[in-house]
Amino acid sequence: MAAGKGTRLKSQRPKVLHEVGGMPLLEHVIRTAARLVPSKDVYAIIGHEADRVRAALGHTGVNFVLQSEQKGTGHALMVARDALAGYEHVIVLSGDAPLITSETIGHLRDFHVCEKPAMTLLSADLKNPYGYGRVLRIGPRSSEVKQIVEEKSATAAQKKIHEINSGFYVFAVKDLYAHIGDLSTANAHGEYYLTDMAAVLRNARKRVVAWQTPTPKEVLGGNTRAELADIDQQMRMAKCRQLMADGVTVFYPATCVIDNDVEIAPDSVIEPYVQLLGRTKIGTGSRVRSYCVIRNSEIGERVTVRPGCIMEDAHISAGAIIGPYSHLRPGSEIGEEAHVGNFVETKKIKLGKGSKANHLTYLGDAEIGAGVNIGAGTIICNYDGVNKHKTVIGDAVFIGSDSTLVAPIRVGNRAYVGAASCITEDVPDDSLALGRSRQVVKEGWAREKRASRAKS
Ligand code: UD1
Ligand code: CA
Repeated sequence: MAAGKGTRLKSQRPKVLHEVGGMPLLEHVIRTAARLVPSKDVYAIIGHEADRVRAALGHTGVNFVLQSEQKGTGHALMVARDALAGYEHVIVLSGDAPLITSETIGHLRDFHVCEKPAMTLLSADLKNPYGYGRVLRIGPRSSEVKQIVEEKSATAAQKKIHEINSGFYVFAVKDLYAHIGDLSTANAHGEYYLTDMAAVLRNARKRVVAWQTPTPKEVLGGNTRAELADIDQQMRMAKCRQLMADGVTVFYPATCVIDNDVEIAPDSVIEPYVQLLGRTKIGTGSRVRSYCVIRNSEIGERVTVRPGCIMEDAHISAGAIIGPYSHLRPGSEIGEEAHVGNFVETKKIKLGKGSKANHLTYLGDAEIGAGVNIGAGTIICNYDGVNKHKTVIGDAVFIGSDSTLVAPIRVGNRAYVGAASCITEDVPDDSLALGRSRQVVKEGWAREKRASRAKS
């Protein structure tokens, strides 16, 4: 169920597209579902901003069912009737509760298959049950449920119940649709509550049971920004713990933001205040120092990323040293043992093995060979105001400091470019190019100037 607006978030974005652990809420839940059944048997019920949700999650390969008017969780299942016609049982997941694991839902399913009721709900014992539906069992030790009461309709005594409805269920499809028409909107929100199916089925003399999860934290829903922050923190701490268990040192994990899909090989070190986002991968023995923000990048073995680097869609080969304060934009491919240093910006470049660009430089749309030294303050002028052009620099080239290379341009192997040159023509192999005005020295000029000032 993912059709709701998420009113409590006060957002332009539909609730299920809000992210925790670097991924939309709904994507977490879809992944859990797809671990239990093939994606072709997963149906996401969408409605509010359905096109946006479909665009964001189409890649998961699940089916979408449109609930064009959102009249409650019960109504969501009414709309899914045709889609579920061929199935015997349906597992219902809440699209806004991303911590749930396939293990827990697997237990719920097994319990349902064993007990054969019309409806099985996953319950949890929460210290603070506020806001959740409460589970009313028929007796203290019974697995059978007589009713679920929503927070808004609960009596003072019912509010004291700590066993809550998680919003995850298994239904026998036949029983669900034989009686779903008995749901009514006579409640605080004027909606069809799926939770009322408990009482509806019981009145129809069908069994409704609850299985209480031993891991109640998994059921938390992200209805408010504060709840989302809480879930995000839990997810990221779990990620850090997993990385540490796998042999990665994460200093001060509470300060790191590491997305769920990030992969880090053992014996790498992540220093405090680092963000590793998207599908970033880091090889063994690498170290990411503080204050780096790295997205969708691949970092090889034994790489050092010094403090303050920003990287996106970059590829860093083994033994390279990046930073401090480097900005590697999409398409930056840094070769083995290469160095990219202070205040260097790169975009769509290949920097060959052992090459260095250590200070104050812009390199864009360039192919740079091995063993090249790019002097401080070098700028590649890749843009003529309309188009981008390519620069090719051969192997073992020396580019003197403060040079500008106006693309398209080629600098041949082993060539030298004198400092402060503006290079506008190709430089052949093994040559020296100078593109600056000759120095003029006027001897005694300063002395004469002082003397003439003293007279006036
Ligand atoms: C629901 C349960 C509550 C339970 C809690 C657990 C109901 C009436 N209440 O409350 O007992 O404790 O979950 O998290 O079900 N949705 C639709 N279509 C709609 C309305 C909602 O698809 O018309 C989706 C939402 O997008 C959301 C999910 O269903 O993903 C749950 O809806 P929400 O409004 O968050 O229900 P809660 O108030 O959290
Ligand atoms: Ca919810």
